[in-house]
Amino acid sequence: MRSFAGRDILSLKDFERNEFFHIFDVAAELEPIAVQRRNSDLLKEKTLVTAFYQPSTRTRLAHEAAMHRLGGHVTGFADAKMTRAGDFYQESIKDTVKMLEFYGDVIVMRHFQQGAPHEAAKWASIPIINGGDGWGEHPTQILTDLYTVLKEKGTIDGLKWLAVGDMRMRTMHSLAYALTQFDCPITFVSPPEMSLTEEFKAELRQYSLDFREAEHVEQAIADADVILVEPVVQPDYTKSRDERKGDVGLTPANYKITRELLATKAKSDAILLHSLPRMDEVPTDVDITRWSRYWQEAFNGVVMRMALLALVLGAME
Ligand code: CP
Repeated sequence: MRSFAGRDILSLKDFERNEFFHIFDVAAELEPIAVQRRNSDLLKEKTLVTAFYQPSTRTRLAHEAAMHRLGGHVTGFADAKMTRAGDFYQESIKDTVKMLEFYGDVIVMRHFQQGAPHEAAKWASIPIINGGDGWGEHPTQILTDLYTVLKEKGTIDGLKWLAVGDMRMRTMHSLAYALTQFDCPITFVSPPEMSLTEEFKAELRQYSLDFREAEHVEQAIADADVILVEPVVQPDYTKSRDERKGDVGLTPANYKITRELLATKAKSDAILLHSLPRMDEVPTDVDITRWSRYWQEAFNGVVMRMALLALVLGAME
């Protein structure tokens, strides 16, 4: 297996099956630190740089929390408008990361342009972690979700997935790439204008992903062991910031997971994931049903980032 030390985490497309399990093992080893709300000293000599060109609650703060849990330091920006990349100069990715690499030992970047973290990785001499790039990918979120499934179900192989939402979404791309390494049939349900592109589907077929598409969650929920939901009412991820203007509408029933739907149609031991933030696609009364796992998923988001930081910084092999 390739070492993770010094490695960029840009896409799940290039991840091998044994690498997923290795990351899950490291996460499980570090998890007690987060469970006990302790801070250790594993990364006490290291600094994380956060470069966020798009809003985030979870991804940025989970990386920062993970770094604190491991005794490391954090610097960076959460609003590129207050940097030279977001003012008159429109400073390039290259010029920006050629600075940031002197301020820390690993950079986590979120950007509205697909491929921006890859561009950063071309120039930086320290690892780049993709915290979400436009409609591209969101690898650390899907690693979190897979780790959640492994913990909750004891396995990933053999489980049937239902993915609901906007298939242009970066999480959906990372999920599809990841599941090519597991025995996991998946059904995608999305509005036609947000469906998987023909190009992406051709790529998934090349990787032998067992997938199908359906129009309504009711057509697929009864078989699902894992239900992963993203909004269909959501901002434009190619913008640095997309303000809500007026009434944005409600989620059609086809893409909504209600308490009644779960109670009448879902397997009693299925689990429901949502990386959040949400609109109305998972109503809040679902939170206290036995299917919901999104708060566990959020906790695991810190654990997974601990594992990734420890691995790419060479503190764990
Ligand atoms: N799930 C996720 O990426 O959340 P944030 O946009 O808050 O980081």
